Amino acid sequence: MKTRWGVLGSGGIARRRTIPEGIMAADNADLVAVFDVNAEANAEVAQETGAATCASEEELLATDCDIIYIATPANLHCGQVARAAAAGKHVLCEKPLGMTVEEGEQILAACRENRVKLGTGLMMRFHAQHQAALALIRDGRIGTPVYGRAQLSCWYPPIPGAWRQDPALSGGGSLMDMGGHCIDLLEMFFGPAKKVSCMTGNLVHSYPSEDTAVVVLEFENGAKGCVDNLFNVPDASSKNRLELYGSKGSILADGTIGQGEIGQMTAFLDAGDKGYAAQQERSEDGGMAIAPAPVNMYRAEVEAFAQAVLDDTDPPVDGKIGLWSQKVLAACYESASTCQTICLERGCCK
Ligand SMILES: NC(=O)c1ccc[n+]([C@@H]2O[C@H](COP(=O)([O-])OP(=O)(O)OC[C@H]3O[C@@H](n4cnc5c(N)ncnc54)[C@H](O)[C@@H]3O)[C@@H](O)[C@H]2O)c1
Repeated sequence: MKTRWGVLGSGGIARRRTIPEGIMAADNADLVAVFDVNAEANAEVAQETGAATCASEEELLATDCDIIYIATPANLHCGQVARAAAAGKHVLCEKPLGMTVEEGEQILAACRENRVKLGTGLMMRFHAQHQAALALIRDGRIGTPVYGRAQLSCWYPPIPGAWRQDPALSGGGSLMDMGGHCIDLLEMFFGPAKKVSCMTGNLVHSYPSEDTAVVVLEFENGAKGCVDNLFNVPDASSKNRLELYGSKGSILADGTIGQGEIGQMTAFLDAGDKGYAAQQERSEDGGMAIAPAPVNMYRAEVEAFAQAVLDDTDPPVDGKIGLWSQKVLAACYESASTCQTICLERGCCK
């Protein structure tokens, strides 16, 4: 059985990744219709995929699709999710769920009231190497988690009209755009954040959104973390590092954070490689390559959400995770503006 998908905002990441690699490739999804205010891009996507072209959001919501995937600028998410939910559609919404915690709460309420499911596009959780690292951590292989770092940075020069460069349209810059993924991953590995301290700035670019953000975190289990997101370094200079340290070892990766299926990940474990079943190789420095079969994150994200709709179960990356992410990001911005460490209220999204 297949779910029927409509796409709102077909011209950006939807066109580059989520439609071709996710919805079109998924075993349990069919693309039915697309709408984008950029009519030319929308028509091209429709032609590439065989989906129906809609001339408005209303027309899209009037189709017989079950699920709407929303991939528009962040300032539009809240109203669009509410209207899709009111039309009885389940919603997979790109991160960030909304612009603020309040918008995130409104989005969850709209989906709850209309009894539709809500998913958040934090697809990096599905990366095969991240899942392999999570299995090692859950098996106690790095011992007591003590410190994690997640980095996602790029070169993002001023572009006239770019919505990410205007906080009124994006809710923030490099932190809002990329930090949400990094913090979410560290929380997947180590559990919920408890305290955050953050510094932001505009060091290179003159647009109003921050081009520099560094977050220090403490997790509920006491482990510490650091997240760094820059819009102002050359693409090749950032290896998008993931570093996870514990009392019995570490897991170190380059390039697993991002949109691709494969990076380099190595575990350095006290107890050797016993018990780790996936393909593995010993490197010269004694590390163990973590190289499970690659998984396309967009396909995994779409299939997981579609399956939750078909089975009437909770999506694995649901609205609560998206709202919590919003809350942690808001605390980071509060910290940056007040020069204070901010404590997060435990369980506030449950
Ligand atoms: N998970 C990921 O890998 C990933 C990657 C990039 C972006 N994103 C998220 O996806 C969302 C979109 O980002 P993007 O990079 O694709 O942006 P983008 O600007 O490249 O694309 C957004 C699209 O939305 C369209 N649009 C604008 N207003 C619209 C409206 N009212 N109705 C319908 N369409 C409208 C635009 O014409 C454009 O085609 C953001 O929330 C962003 O954070 C996620």
